[in-house]
Amino acid sequence: MAFGVYLHIPFCRHRCDYCAFATWTDRHHLADAYLAACRRQIQEAAEAGTLGRAGVTSVFVGGGTPSLVSADDLVDVLAQIPLAPGAEVTVECNPDDIDRARVDTYAAGGVTRLSIGVQSMVPEVLRSLGREHDPANVTRAADAARSVGVPFNIDLVYGATGETMEQWRRTLEAAVDLGPSHVSAYALTVESGTPLAADPARHPDDDTQADEYELATELLGAAGYEWYEISNWARPGHECRHNRLYWSGGEYLAVGCAAHGHVGGRRYWNHRTPERYIAAVEGGTSAESGSEILDVTESRVELLQLSIRTREGVAADEVSDRVVDQLQGLVERRGDRVVLTRKGRFLANEVAIRLG
Ligand SMILES: C[S@@+](CC[C@H](N)C(=O)[O-])C[C@H]1O[C@@H](n2cnc3c(N)ncnc32)[C@H](O)[C@@H]1O
Ligand code: SF4
Repeated sequence: MAFGVYLHIPFCRHRCDYCAFATWTDRHHLADAYLAACRRQIQEAAEAGTLGRAGVTSVFVGGGTPSLVSADDLVDVLAQIPLAPGAEVTVECNPDDIDRARVDTYAAGGVTRLSIGVQSMVPEVLRSLGREHDPANVTRAADAARSVGVPFNIDLVYGATGETMEQWRRTLEAAVDLGPSHVSAYALTVESGTPLAADPARHPDDDTQADEYELATELLGAAGYEWYEISNWARPGHECRHNRLYWSGGEYLAVGCAAHGHVGGRRYWNHRTPERYIAAVEGGTSAESGSEILDVTESRVELLQLSIRTREGVAADEVSDRVVDQLQGLVERRGDRVVLTRKGRFLANEVAIRLG
């Protein structure tokens, strides 16, 4: 039975203009206490027997910027997790932080996969996103991962103000040339409270983003990456197991501040700030700040809406024939499944809402 752990690292050097994730640029001094609290939370979960009966099958260390904390300290935290044989362990990284020594430490500590936040290979586009990493470091990061033999994902974002189709093509081609095993390409979204939200002149255009998605589909497919979820492509066998756990309604423990978990039919989330999280764990109280139990109908709808976005789609007997007929052209029956058509992928959110 699959069981995951999501570990959140809430520190960044700089906040990108589009990002609303729980991360801080002025709290690095908390890193030691924070990682100690994460270690303790995992040890307590392991002692309580809540980390999956057969061990943890996937771990995702996300952020924030996990590569900003010491690699040795991070692998010490990971060492507390009782892993199932062959478990997938991913660490999200900023290209500026990745060199051979760091990848060696990660690999020796059981990390099986990196996810590198590239976003764009074009300096003007990175500037337009308010992103500060040095594009030259992307090549160094990919070289380091390849030389140690750790497969890596590349995260890309499309729809920055002023990004031309030619620049997006250059980004996709350069990304493929780096030899990733997996590529995630996300439509830039406007998140409230961000500098991007406050500047309507920089908001992305839907039609341009649809054209950019089409180009990604074409180029990544031609380069041997198989589409398997709206924003994700992988070489066969390199699909991200941890994300699949989310999309299939699986169970996972939340470690760290602002992390969300799903265990025993209950969704919960931890204290949002690192200070409150550290205080709760050090004080021997729960790291959770809230939870909810979805009823059967809510769980079914949520699962349908996540699954329809994947290559496998949903079981045909889960959705009404009338709705499938109404969505003709956007979804199709394939054996006993209903899946998105290529056109349907552009309108996945609308399709998901109709199916629910
Ligand atoms: C939260 S970041 C964490 C990893 C690392 N800090 C980085 O930026 O690469 C994970 C990914 O989320 C995506 N992301 C964050 N905010 C986004 C937004 N507003 N629209 C689209 N993608 C976004 C980016 O592609 C980013 O690589
Ligand atoms: S996109 Fe990544 S690097 Fe930028 S602020 Fe968000 S978490 Fe930090």
